[in-house]
Amino acid sequence: MSAATDRPMRLGLFLQGAGHHVAGWRHPEAQFGGENLKLIQGIARTAEEGHFDLLFLADGLTSSADAHPSFVARIEPIALLSALAMGTKHLGLAATMSTTYTEPFHIARAFASLDHLSGGRAAWNAVTTSYARSSANFSRGDHPSHDDRYAIAEECIDVVRGLWDSFADDAFVKDKARGVYVEPDRVHTLNHEGRYFSVKGPLNASRPPQGHPIIIQAGSSLPGQRLAARTSEIVFTAQQTLVEGKAFRDGLRGFAVEAGRNPDHVMVLPGVCPVIGGTEAEAKALYAQLQGGIDPAAAILLLNDRLGHDVSGYDLDGPLPNLPESDQLQSRARLLTDLARRENLTLRELYYLVAGARGHRIVWGTPEQVADALEEWFVGGGSDGFNIMPPFFPTQFERFVGDVVPILRKRGLVRGEYVGNTLRENLGLPRPANQFFPD
Ligand SMILES: Cc1cc2nc3c(=O)[nH]c(=O)nc-3n(C[C@H](O)[C@H](O)[C@H](O)COP(=O)(O)O)c2cc1C
Repeated sequence: MSAATDRPMRLGLFLQGAGHHVAGWRHPEAQFGGENLKLIQGIARTAEEGHFDLLFLADGLTSSADAHPSFVARIEPIALLSALAMGTKHLGLAATMSTTYTEPFHIARAFASLDHLSGGRAAWNAVTTSYARSSANFSRGDHPSHDDRYAIAEECIDVVRGLWDSFADDAFVKDKARGVYVEPDRVHTLNHEGRYFSVKGPLNASRPPQGHPIIIQAGSSLPGQRLAARTSEIVFTAQQTLVEGKAFRDGLRGFAVEAGRNPDHVMVLPGVCPVIGGTEAEAKALYAQLQGGIDPAAAILLLNDRLGHDVSGYDLDGPLPNLPESDQLQSRARLLTDLARRENLTLRELYYLVAGARGHRIVWGTPEQVADALEEWFVGGGSDGFNIMPPFFPTQFERFVGDVVPILRKRGLVRGEYVGNTLRENLGLPRPANQFFPD
């Protein structure tokens, strides 16, 4: 590793069919991968060639045709990752599933199954589902408040982890002579009766190869950080500056220690959208071309979603108005408000910036410049790696793997090979003991 750090920079690929830039899909080289398995399989192979730790699929529970093409139609993540598991060997496979709208039994079963199918490469992005419009597709009444969503998530994750521990690792003795398939005293029935969930158990899946699939948390509000510090191994974030990134990471590591955990076992991966050109001028022109393709109406819808307020009635050439705290995405709204104030942005400038990568940091430049930007954050303690969000697929991602990764490797920042068989091993994380069968 580099002289400045003794830990490898972790790399995740945030795969979004239409690309991460809202107008990325309009670029002549862009191929639309939302439901194109062949294309996605090729992208996954490229990620593995670049020794990426994981491939991540976000998910939502509504279809919205008006903001970003990727939100209109996409394959259900567990189904897609199961298909990708067959053509990859080492890549971690991370799927999003909502703690607000999915029963913990379903979650535990789905991720245990993916972990078995992939030989221990599953990760669960546990999200609370921010958007109230999701509730219209389920039959549970009103969308719970921000605090309630996190209280549900706390209990849901505990139940899921309890279900993953239903069987001791050696429970399935399959003893033909004795006629014993499973040792009855190596099975735990959870009998969970909580505030939100009643789940008897045991799970109808043996203990996953990783013990527990990796848990990812992507909310950065205080309840989100507390949840991540207690339960998660990876945290996806969207900070814009190194100062913000470092403050967040330091705070989270402190919360992890308070929760009795090793802070190195919680890794912060901010999203970064690299716009790569052969020269600085080429990268700048590509960024301008992408920005020029933005539909202002879609851009303002994306900003409304991120802020949790409709700002379309305000003067677009004036400053961002003072808005009350949103119940939707608290941390993202705060980051964008800070950005607008710091950079003195008009509403129009802000929504163009947000449309770029939905509020994530955009870095444009040569491969060398992109590598510099990542190194600065990583060495400066702002992250444990990055969630790479190409503006469009596949060529911009191929450029990242072909041109940026070798520079990072030469600098000793990323590892040049997979070091284990499971995602947990590749991330240098221990396999958790079974809480009911600690032996
Ligand atoms: C990189 C990243 C990916 C995310 N992916 C999803 C997703 O797939 N589905 C979802 O409902 N929310 C997703 N979120 C949103 C968060 O889970 C969370 O709901 C949001 O940040 C608001 O939580 P907060 O108020 O705690 O910040 C993502 C956030 C980030 C930073």
